[in-house]
Amino acid sequence: MRVALGLISLVWAQGLRAGFVGAVTDTSASIQVLGPAGQPVQVEVSQYPDFSASRSQLVTLDSWGFGRASWAGLLPATRYYWRVYRPSIDTVAGSFRTFPPDTFRGYIRFAFGSCQAFGYAPPTSEPIFSVIAQDTPWLFIQCGDWGYPDLRYYRLPQDSTTFAQWWDTIVASYYARYQGSDIQRIFRITPVDYVYDDHDYINDNASAATSPHISDTLIREFGFPSYARRNIIQAYSQFFPHYPLPDTSQGIYHRIRLGPVEIFVCDNRAARSPDLNALEWRGDTVFFIRPPGHSMLGSAQLQWLLDGLRTSTATWKFVITGVAFNRGYRQILEALSGNYTLQQCRLPGLGNGAMLLAGLSDTWAAFAEEQDSILRYLQRHGIRNVIWLSSDSHTSAIDDGTNAGVPELMAGNLRQQNSQLAWLMANAGSLLPAICPQANFSQNFAVWNAGGQGLGNSNFNDAYGRVEVFGEDSVRLSIVDVNGTVVASLTLRPGQAAALQKTHPLPADRFKVYPIPAQDRIWLQVDPSLLSEPTPVYLTDAVGRVIGHRTLSSRDSRAPVSWEVASLPRGLYFVVLWRREGPYVRSFLKE
Ligand SMILES: [Fe+2]
Repeated sequence: MRVALGLISLVWAQGLRAGFVGAVTDTSASIQVLGPAGQPVQVEVSQYPDFSASRSQLVTLDSWGFGRASWAGLLPATRYYWRVYRPSIDTVAGSFRTFPPDTFRGYIRFAFGSCQAFGYAPPTSEPIFSVIAQDTPWLFIQCGDWGYPDLRYYRLPQDSTTFAQWWDTIVASYYARYQGSDIQRIFRITPVDYVYDDHDYINDNASAATSPHISDTLIREFGFPSYARRNIIQAYSQFFPHYPLPDTSQGIYHRIRLGPVEIFVCDNRAARSPDLNALEWRGDTVFFIRPPGHSMLGSAQLQWLLDGLRTSTATWKFVITGVAFNRGYRQILEALSGNYTLQQCRLPGLGNGAMLLAGLSDTWAAFAEEQDSILRYLQRHGIRNVIWLSSDSHTSAIDDGTNAGVPELMAGNLRQQNSQLAWLMANAGSLLPAICPQANFSQNFAVWNAGGQGLGNSNFNDAYGRVEVFGEDSVRLSIVDVNGTVVASLTLRPGQAAALQKTHPLPADRFKVYPIPAQDRIWLQVDPSLLSEPTPVYLTDAVGRVIGHRTLSSRDSRAPVSWEVASLPRGLYFVVLWRREGPYVRSFLKE
């Protein structure tokens, strides 16, 4: 508390700190200001950089230093210049474009991402924002974990204190957000939208009223005071230039129309059932269950989403939830469920198997009934061109819908140590037998089939999600890293419906790598059905670094292919057969 108050007085003593644009539509916009508390500031917009013919408002900042000006009656698809100033003292300025009208069918690009590792001090180095700014997106959406204000006050399992209990602490978290030095590049050129996720809401993996503690000795939900949740929702509506919020008793969900695109920004925390309700202990063993009414969105928001998707007149409908939608994760939940040996295994970076199961219970796969009801609804009503955008997991990957249920772009590491989770999940079928031989485990998982971080590459850099819409023709989803490198990309054509079919784990006998352990060479035995076209094969080390590459064609299925490995250091390696539908991975130990 004392530290938070210290930060506040620091800001009071200073001048204009930040300004940016939000809640943009084709005819309206708001400008958010952070500056000297209680002081009047002039806020101005104009179509001209010299501010001729400007429209101006005088805004008195509140006692925390926040203020907002809003304009209606703007022209669509028009660049506006804005400035916030105190005459002959200081100025903050920038520009943005109003959105195109619903009938617009040209090219649109927007960007999103999540997870910026900072607490209450404004972040000083977030180079990803320079790359996003070069993209000049129509909109940037911060999908949560815009800072980790919860970490300083996290005291579970001793007590369930959360930063969101104190207004000053929440205010300080907004100060840090708005004063990040590199995000100013975005503020100056494009509008921003925001929805919190777990860490900037209450705690890691939090629900409406609880947050879980997950360790190797204790996995349990703890309740927090209900006013913490109310505080967070109130602060968002007071301090962020938001779109209309249909029901703040249920959270901050909202929708955005951008030409042929509609974006449904869900609040996946404030109405959520406790994650761990989907787990049940029988003795020492954890089982994944499907409790009735287990919901991530809550009934009001779910109805809002389904009605919205059904009645939307947009060609492309994007749904944003912090956590991954990918239905394929259910295979991993089910494999871990009830398997005591696997649950006791230590998994590098993930604790043990039981902790992995508890962690995955935060994703859509664990909200199986609700997830299936969404997919069924899309099918029943013939709702096409629904694309999921998710964040949260500190890594990035893409699926064309075969495994995820609908096409999904996950981009969750704007500035955060990469969790390698997509890589781990895609390779779980190879990793688990190697890490935990006693579990006698042999199953492969189909999760992300269109690439991602660590899937056929060793790129675990900071990254964001780039969405490009080519009118009604197609959508391209890309993961772009901090160097501007496109890590993975997928183009979708219209007409795609939700995939309800089960995912298809690869039968083990269609692709074999032996002997294990290997000494001088390994042999690759590949079924002809996997080599119907020239197919790249990568040899990677245990963290996905590519150390060898070749292309196999149909004749390589006639006899096992030999691969020299004598020069490799001892350790765990992967052979990745890269097919259109996704990577097939086998592991071997080199001695
Ligand atoms: Fe995060």
